[in-house]
Amino acid sequence: MTAPLSFSDYLDLVPKVELHLHIAGAIRATTLVELAAKNGVRLPRPAETLYQWQDFYGFLEVLRLGALSLRHPADFARAAYECVEDLHRHGNVRHAEIFFNPHYFTPNGATYPEIADGLIEGLARGEREFGVSSRLIACIDRSVCLPSEALQMLEWMAAHPREAVIGIGLDGAERVGPPLAWLEAWRRAGRAGLFRTAHVCEDNQALFEGPPEHVTHCRDALGCDRLDHGYNMLADPGLVARMAREQVPFTMACWSSIPPNRAPRRERIRRMHEAGLLLVLGTDDPTMFHTTMGHGWRSVFAGNGWGPAEARRLSLAGVTASWLPADRKAALAAEFTARLDALDAALDPADRAIDLAVERPLPRLG
Ligand code: ADE
Ligand code: ZN
Repeated sequence: MTAPLSFSDYLDLVPKVELHLHIAGAIRATTLVELAAKNGVRLPRPAETLYQWQDFYGFLEVLRLGALSLRHPADFARAAYECVEDLHRHGNVRHAEIFFNPHYFTPNGATYPEIADGLIEGLARGEREFGVSSRLIACIDRSVCLPSEALQMLEWMAAHPREAVIGIGLDGAERVGPPLAWLEAWRRAGRAGLFRTAHVCEDNQALFEGPPEHVTHCRDALGCDRLDHGYNMLADPGLVARMAREQVPFTMACWSSIPPNRAPRRERIRRMHEAGLLLVLGTDDPTMFHTTMGHGWRSVFAGNGWGPAEARRLSLAGVTASWLPADRKAALAAEFTARLDALDAALDPADRAIDLAVERPLPRLG
């Protein structure tokens, strides 16, 4: 007989879908330093201290600066492949939908098809080696892009259609680019058959900068299929109830905030979960915030006192909220359910201790 499964191993082995990850925030620091040296880009600090900042805006600056180190298709392929490897090894992610911001990379001469094709090549290698499927979401950082650049991105996408690129997203600081500024691009994307999402009501924005009505604008005007973050929405219980009724998916990450905000954000995630919202836990910017999918899950479960029932709900919510076609979703849901049943049967019922190590070897079941 094999030993029962510890709760930490159980949480790492729960099958997951990653729907909130920015490739620019998921590059290993050592890789970034190597690519910067190869491409003649000067980074402000060495690898060990590169991923450090004081606040959200400092983080965004490092994110954009680091991204300038990637120039050639092989650079994008490496970043994407290593990202998939990390998702697999540190949290058993089975499917990922990954943001990439073309405008972060074009200033150094990379073109949209070079960026997209490089990423696609790396993701395909990741799927072959680790069995993780993936898609891409082209994203606009509203802190540095104008609405006209969102239209430009749609033109690039139309000129170079790729099956793997299935939607658009909006990130950066909400206070400089409220949702309605992006109406035309989001409507055009809808007409082009693209899925749509947007970062909204992130709790690094004051309530007046990222107010609950932005959720309504994203959903009703921009036609978003799902939303990213959403914490400030808790200020409007009626809206929370509506989003729960409509089962609009919210993707969120507990660790991708400055340390003093992590416990408050985890508490907001708990309240949103208890309100019946369809939540999917992601990593956002895992290498930049020194986290992994497994670590993110374990820290939320430890802080919120959650158990296997919550794990099952969150795991399957990832499948529901994904932008896969119905047949792929059904197959993935069946795979997840079988796996969750096996994990439940193997779990040590007496163990609820949680190891908060960032990286743990992926355990084996049985
Ligand atoms: N870009 C990368 N991570 C982000 C976040 N959490 N919020 C806004 N923009 C981002
Ligand atoms: Zn994000």
